[in-house]
Amino acid sequence: MIDFKKEILAIKKQKNAVILAHYYQIPEIQDLADYVGDSLGLSQQAAETDADLIVFAGVHFMAETAKILNPAKKVVLPDLKAGCSLADSCQPNDFKAFLAKYTDYTVISYINCSAAIKCMSDIICTSGNALQIVNSLPADEKIIFAPDKNLGAYINKMSGRDMILWDGVCEVHNILKKEKIIELKITNPDAKLIAHPECDAAILELADFIGSTTALLAYTRKNEAKRFIVATETGILHQMKKESPDKEFIIVPADETCSCNDCAFMKMNTMEKLYLALKNEKPEITLPQDVIDQAKKPIIRMLDISKALGLI
Ligand code: 13P
Ligand code: SF4
Repeated sequence: MIDFKKEILAIKKQKNAVILAHYYQIPEIQDLADYVGDSLGLSQQAAETDADLIVFAGVHFMAETAKILNPAKKVVLPDLKAGCSLADSCQPNDFKAFLAKYTDYTVISYINCSAAIKCMSDIICTSGNALQIVNSLPADEKIIFAPDKNLGAYINKMSGRDMILWDGVCEVHNILKKEKIIELKITNPDAKLIAHPECDAAILELADFIGSTTALLAYTRKNEAKRFIVATETGILHQMKKESPDKEFIIVPADETCSCNDCAFMKMNTMEKLYLALKNEKPEITLPQDVIDQAKKPIIRMLDISKALGLI
């Protein structure tokens, strides 16, 4: 039986590799990663790493973003099938036809989209900077926001804008139900409800705090409350418990019978696949140079605005 943890750490050192992991990864992967973070933090890490090999423990669009930002590095993803329902909801040909209906619009795309969609975008954003990115544009700027309509509607509400929204959702967050949350709030009146902005507006209206995974984690660490109802993917609980061992976290279940708010794509990565990806340096993420050049522009614009605003 292979000791995956021991082998991964040894090969990582030998190959000068870095393991970047999203908060929705299984706890074992989070615990041996060099960096665990949200999409914004992971992008910045990918752009700045001097490692020779980037092993991305996340989903496809994240590894693709790492390749776009640091094309000289080899980027591997433990399972190439680790996609994203939100990214899948926005196919390039459909998006092109959609954009053709709106000339003179600035296109802001959430990072959860393919490289092809990034190539058609003016600025990328993440849940950690979407509001600030939108607010950095003139108040009368006409904006299209894709692909998450829940995040887009939330930003419209917070910014007072009227952005045109692409009709996409994350299946994991969108399945969470208001009724279940009200029930949990009634039975746990002392608990704070925290939610990711990919959730439906009916849930966000009930939340005490809304933010990216990093922001949710920071809130649970800093807030004086001892109990939290958590409306997002289950993986984040690992860091919450580690950072605040004296606090209690109640994950909002999708329903009584399934664990649908485990992101099936995120959970495709296992210790064994991570070990094999590192050892064999595949499956590798590759992209044509013209796609890298075009998709990089809106991501760099996001990172520049984020740096100027002190967000990273
Ligand atoms: P963040 O970690 O950037 O908040 O994004 C959540 C998510 O949906 C990742 O796919
Ligand atoms: Fe995509 Fe949703 Fe999974 Fe995030 S949680 S990777 S948005 S399907």
